Formats: sequence, C-alpha cells, structure tokens
Amino acid sequence: MRCKSADAASKLILLGEHAVVYGEAALAVPLKQPKARATVSQAQHGRSVAVELKDYNLRWDGATPPPPEAEPFARIIRAAAKRFTAVPAQGWKLAVRSQIPSGCGLGSGAAVAAAAFKAIFRYFRVPHTPQVLSELVYEIEKLHHGTPSGIDNTVIALGRPILFRKGAPAQFLATPQSRCFLIVGHTGRRHRTSEIVAEVARARGLDPVRYDTIFRDIGRLSGPGAKAFQAGRWSELGRIMDRNQELLESLDVSSPELDSLVAAARNAGALGAKLSGAGRGGCMAALTDDPLCAKRTQRALKAAGAAATFLTEVGDHEG
Ligand code: PMV
Repeated sequence: MRCKSADAASKLILLGEHAVVYGEAALAVPLKQPKARATVSQAQHGRSVAVELKDYNLRWDGATPPPPEAEPFARIIRAAAKRFTAVPAQGWKLAVRSQIPSGCGLGSGAAVAAAAFKAIFRYFRVPHTPQVLSELVYEIEKLHHGTPSGIDNTVIALGRPILFRKGAPAQFLATPQSRCFLIVGHTGRRHRTSEIVAEVARARGLDPVRYDTIFRDIGRLSGPGAKAFQAGRWSELGRIMDRNQELLESLDVSSPELDSLVAAARNAGALGAKLSGAGRGGCMAALTDDPLCAKRTQRALKAAGAAATFLTEVGDHEG
C-alpha cells in the first residue's frame, strides 16, 4: 500500500523568551532531535478520514466528533482539504508519532502539525512553500496557545535558526560551521504557556518599570547572542545564556527543578545553561562544543532528576 511519511524537528528558544511577548527579539533554533513523524496512507474503509495517534494509543475514524487529542488533526485534515483541491476530504489515514514531550517548550504541537501537513503534501503531491506550511501550522497553533508569538511555526516549518521579533519578518541566521551540542533536560513538569505569560503580565502590571527594564535587558542579549551563534563563539554564547537565566529568575519564571538542572549542567562543565520556553517546569538547555562534556552534562542532568534528556544539535535547513 502506498504511503508517505514526513518528519518535523522540535525547537528550542536559546534567548529571549517572555521578553519577546513585549516586542523584544528572541533567538530560536530547530533541533535535530527529538522529532515528530507523520504518515499518510489510504484508508481501509475508503469513505472516512482516519487519524491514528500512536503515542496516545488513540484512533479516530472520522465518522464521530473527534476526541480532544484528535481535534488538532481533524482541523489539519479540514484545512488541507479546504485549501488544496488535490487533497480529498475522505478516503485516507493520517498516523502521527512524536518523541517530543508536550507542554515543555520544545514546540511539540507545531512539530506534529508540520509533520502532518508535510506528509499530506507528499502523499497528494501538493506543491507548497515553507512559508505556506508555516502559516498553516500557525493556524493550528492557535488551538493550543490562543495567540502564539509565531516562533514555533516559523522555526519548525522553515527549519532554520531565527532572530524573531513579533510583527516583523523573521531574520534567518546562518547555521554555524563549527559544531555545538545542546543538552536538553525536561523537569517532567508540563507547563501552560498562556497561564505563565498571563501571570508575568499581572506582575508587570504591579511594577511596570522594573519588569520593562528586565525585558529590555533580556532583549539586549539576543542580538549579540545571534552574532556569537553564527560565528560559533560558543563560550560567549554560553555566558549570554547564563545572564539570560539570571534575568528569567528575576521574572520568577524559573523553578527549583529548573535551577537544579541548570546548576548540574554548569557543574558538569557546560558553557552556559538556562530554562527554555515559558518556564516554571518544562525544559532547560545547556550548551557545549565538547562531545565528552555533552555526554557528561547529559549524565549530570539524569542524576539531578531530569525526567527526560536529549543530547542534540542545531537542525539542518530542510527548505
Ligand atoms: O514554552 P513555549 O515553547 O510555549 O515558549 C513560550 C515562549 C514565551 O515567550 C514565554 C511565549 C511566546 O509566545 O513567545
């Protein structure tokens, strides 16, 4: 039976989360691992559209209203069939698998949506641009996050490191020639981005001068951080990540678990470490250019109680 699969990378915010909500720049990169994978094939009962979410052990046959986990996929199918005449509204099956833990800042929702759209485009031979893919993924992201900043769909659909500022075209960065390793530690605690963003907004309402100063200070790190990233000046980028973590701590979006993983990574010799994404749980990331230090850091994160770890690199441009 003919089938077509497609992968999509996860993403990591290296610098600038939270400040990006207030118009400052953020630096985000696609990761080689973990990934999401989607496969489209012909449905056995030619009349419906079926969705299979292997990691949730969930199947939806398209005949009844979708259960909550399948709702984004029902929307993906509807959006693809509505926008592209080559995609029929029924008679095919979408299966999705993801290694990306959800609700932890790695862009799991955007990655599974991007993988699903890409598999649909491959199966039905729909020509498309990365920009169109990014727009389609953004529409699905609204389901998860209300008004997402647009970082996840841009980095994941275009597969390139970016300097991102809300409302402005993303500035694409060159993938550096020299190698670096990112070690991601998951606290095991899911976070709800919209709630944390709302709490930060409430705190800012009580002390706008202090918060706006912190946002500006965070924003000032992203430009030099992007230059250090492109030039492969990893020690400098590590120091900038450490400074960004201090500022995130003063916004009160870190947590004891994140602090302890960040400390473990630094003690293992990482060049820098910080929480990534909304914080209060979710993931942190550490940077090194030394493969032995990368392995040591991963072991240190496990020993410090990380629920999952990923030793990974910045992803390649997939076009
Ligand atoms: O944890 P994530 O991947 O949802 O990242 C949130 C990043 C914020 O800056 C806190 C919010 C946003 O929309 O950019």
